Amino acid sequence: MSQPSSRTVPSARPIGIFDSGVGGLTVMKALIERLPTEDMIYLGDTARVPYGNRGPETVRRYATNAAALLRSHDIKALVVACNTASAYALEALRDGLDIPVFGVIAPVARRAAELTETDKIAILGTRGTIQSNSYQRSLLNLRSQIDVYPVACPLLVPLAEEGWTTGSVTEQVIEHYLSPLSGTGVDTMILGCTHYPLMQQTIAEVVERLPFEVVTLVDSARTTSQAVEEALREKSLLSDENAAGVHRFLLTDLPQGFIETAERFFGRSLDGACEHVDITDSTFSLVVPPTG
Ligand code: DGL
Repeated sequence: MSQPSSRTVPSARPIGIFDSGVGGLTVMKALIERLPTEDMIYLGDTARVPYGNRGPETVRRYATNAAALLRSHDIKALVVACNTASAYALEALRDGLDIPVFGVIAPVARRAAELTETDKIAILGTRGTIQSNSYQRSLLNLRSQIDVYPVACPLLVPLAEEGWTTGSVTEQVIEHYLSPLSGTGVDTMILGCTHYPLMQQTIAEVVERLPFEVVTLVDSARTTSQAVEEALREKSLLSDENAAGVHRFLLTDLPQGFIETAERFFGRSLDGACEHVDITDSTFSLVVPPTG
């Protein structure tokens, strides 16, 4: 008797994850820790990073291309591991795809609202994420008395992509963005860009140096991976494999910097796991009709 193909066993299909560059790896790492037997395909749109300085239409188009390409790899769920794309494209992707689609903003906002004691929450994000007001809306929907302090930090993504996650230049840039927040009573900071946890240590050190009370940093990785696990379990979409999952990395450009950062971050060689893909290929459509 022939074995069913992976296409006929939805839970055996990979999880798709995308971001503009290295940032979404922070979410993927948390997903791997939580779901070690799941196959995963990561798409880094490295040819078009950063997304954070682009307009809403452009971000939606890029995110749609990325989702369609991943969908053509028969993924069972899509994790939009990018705050900017979650802010501008989540609804369009949910409308256009026939699989569960997870964004990063709602789980993080929920967690931050749980943690704050002063009801004063700072949001650090790309210009796009901040201008979209997505976090601001989510937080105020959760509790209208929350004061939000949005800060666009456009220089942090290029620094993270360059691997400059520590050092005096990065510290100065972070200090420049965070200084205006001291004295506000902010006790919770949302790292509202998946690139920022790569420099979490430096952000924490700068916060420590500035005249803040105790501040808790909340990022997308832990909260989103928990939300993904819970939803996949509920939908009976978790893999029942025992072996470690296979992880592939598709990149729209193949910069050595991405591979070096990813290898440092995961602590293992990604030799043979990274492939170049052409994302602008118009043959991909958002919904792939089921085969067979
Ligand atoms: N890491 C992404 C985010 O969470 C994208 C950053 C960018 O490309 O500007 O917003």
